[in-house]
Amino acid sequence: MAGEPAKARIAILISGRGSNMVALADAVRAGEIPNAEVAIVISDQPNAAGLERARERGIETLVIERRGRQREEHDREIIAALRHRQIDLICLAGYMRVLSKEFIDAYRGRIVNIHPSLLPLYPGLNAQQQALDRGAKISGCTVHFVDETLDGGPIIAQREVPVYDGDTVASLSERILIEEHKLYAEAVNLVLNEIDSSP
Ligand code: GAR
Repeated sequence: MAGEPAKARIAILISGRGSNMVALADAVRAGEIPNAEVAIVISDQPNAAGLERARERGIETLVIERRGRQREEHDREIIAALRHRQIDLICLAGYMRVLSKEFIDAYRGRIVNIHPSLLPLYPGLNAQQQALDRGAKISGCTVHFVDETLDGGPIIAQREVPVYDGDTVASLSERILIEEHKLYAEAVNLVLNEIDSSP
């Protein structure tokens, strides 16, 4: 008997507030990302506010702290947790650590990240501050595949956001974040369709 196609199992990695994680989880629940489930939320920070928001939604959570270990060792523990749960796609959502080559190799083409600028402009930390410092009139957000470069992997989707005179980091970040929440779900749909149709 032919059953439902297997659901794509998504892991979301966070370090803090987790509003993009919530946006993805709620999009899955609303059927806006069909045939997918958020299987786990992993944080490297035990106090990440997003953990509670994931639990409220009935999503398994796991804290894997760095605990002074080398990046490779920390990542190995995360990879083991992902493999154990047969994860298909990893979404970084405010996960503030650079991934080791081993991690990227283990899930190449299956790790995506959201960044609050129109990459390749303003990679790294404080992207909104960088945009204001340069006097940008337009900024935005980008979802991209993660590779060995810093925020330099292939771009999946982008959305522009205007920068207004008098904007502060807070006001610009807030305007970009509204678009991040919509863009991330759209981009995950694109990626899952791609993974689905690949041989
Ligand atoms: C988001 O604005 C995300 O784009 C940014 O951190 C914020 C996390 O918010 N990520 C980066 O700057 C990565 N370089 P959230 O925890 O509420 O999703």
